[in-house]
Amino acid sequence: MTQARFSITEGQTQVLVTAPKTTKRGPATRTKEPFYNPSMELSRDLSVLVNQWFLTSRQKPTRICDGLAASGIRGLRLAKELDGDTQVTINDSKESAFDLIQENIQRNSLKNAIASNADLNILLARERFHSIDIDPFGSPISFVDSAMRSISPGGLLACTATDTAPLCGVFPEVCHRRYAAWPLHGPCMHEVGLRILIGVLAREAGKYDKGILPLLCYTTDHYFRVYVKVDNGKHAANASMGHLLTIPASDIPLAISSQHPVGPLWMGPLLQAKVVQEVRSLVFSKPLGSKHQLWKLLSLLEDEVEAPPFFYTVEDITSRLKRSMPPLNHFLEVLRLEGFFASRTHFTPTGFKTDAPWESIQDILSHL
Ligand SMILES: C[S@@+](CC[C@H](N)C(=O)[O-])C[C@H]1O[C@@H](n2cnc3c(N)ncnc32)[C@H](O)[C@@H]1O
Repeated sequence: MTQARFSITEGQTQVLVTAPKTTKRGPATRTKEPFYNPSMELSRDLSVLVNQWFLTSRQKPTRICDGLAASGIRGLRLAKELDGDTQVTINDSKESAFDLIQENIQRNSLKNAIASNADLNILLARERFHSIDIDPFGSPISFVDSAMRSISPGGLLACTATDTAPLCGVFPEVCHRRYAAWPLHGPCMHEVGLRILIGVLAREAGKYDKGILPLLCYTTDHYFRVYVKVDNGKHAANASMGHLLTIPASDIPLAISSQHPVGPLWMGPLLQAKVVQEVRSLVFSKPLGSKHQLWKLLSLLEDEVEAPPFFYTVEDITSRLKRSMPPLNHFLEVLRLEGFFASRTHFTPTGFKTDAPWESIQDILSHL
């Protein structure tokens, strides 16, 4: 039985969707019909902004692929809301999704969008794109190899992973067989998972003498999202492979011990300062439903651009030291006055990043 259709508006785009989730929270579940997940609005708003940044920095006609499109909402929004010369291929292997994408392209009178009904790996084997978006149910891993072959030099690759349980170490064997990396369950698990995902992109790029540069990578409670630039050449490939490390769990602040070393992990930067800054400056330039949350997220990311890997949380410190903490902002100010880097982190509201060693943290706390 065909489900009812609803018209919704996100950004400046009206889209027909089926079976919308009724809440704004949580990941989507697989359904027979193409679905619309309102909880991914921030992710789609950010796609518009990062692609806008990319178009502005390229100043050339840009071929974009929304590879796993469902209703097509992400690709439709890119086709409609970006200023610049774009051609957007909006693809889904499911026939009902393809029909809906076609209808949505017509309803929005989009001349720069094409509906496609292919397996994404086949589409990517046939065509080249400057910007590729992989937004699957679960893991993006089965599409990364094809994306690395298809993407043009200097291209933008965006990937979502919603398989948070493996990447956060709830199911370590699943993570190991899917990503060939060991995760770590504990306070820094989201950052470890994000670094595992970026590490896989670096390895997959390296096979083709390509290298990645993470531009803007973040997590929320139910997904990981990375935007990386893919450069050609063995220099770029070697440089990005040079950021991969497998580390003992004891190198991660306040981690519990682990049966395996953790990783391989991407231990290079997760963010590029200029990109985060420029993307943030675009937040109020377009009508976006999540602009206030986005502004908050991008502000936190900007604060942690120069931060070292991993973080402490207030709860872990209080439980380890059996004492209460002063207000976090005050403590961070004191760390900075002592000459250390200190910032909050988007990974968790009670987390902070610092290059201060554990002994200095204890010492400073004992004087507060
Ligand atoms: C999570 S949904 C995409 C959500 C969409 N990007 C959005 O922002 O609303 C994943 C989609 O991928 C499609 N899909 C799964 N495997 C595929 C494949 N191998 N090739 C193309 N599409 C595929 C599914 O039919 C589903 O519609």
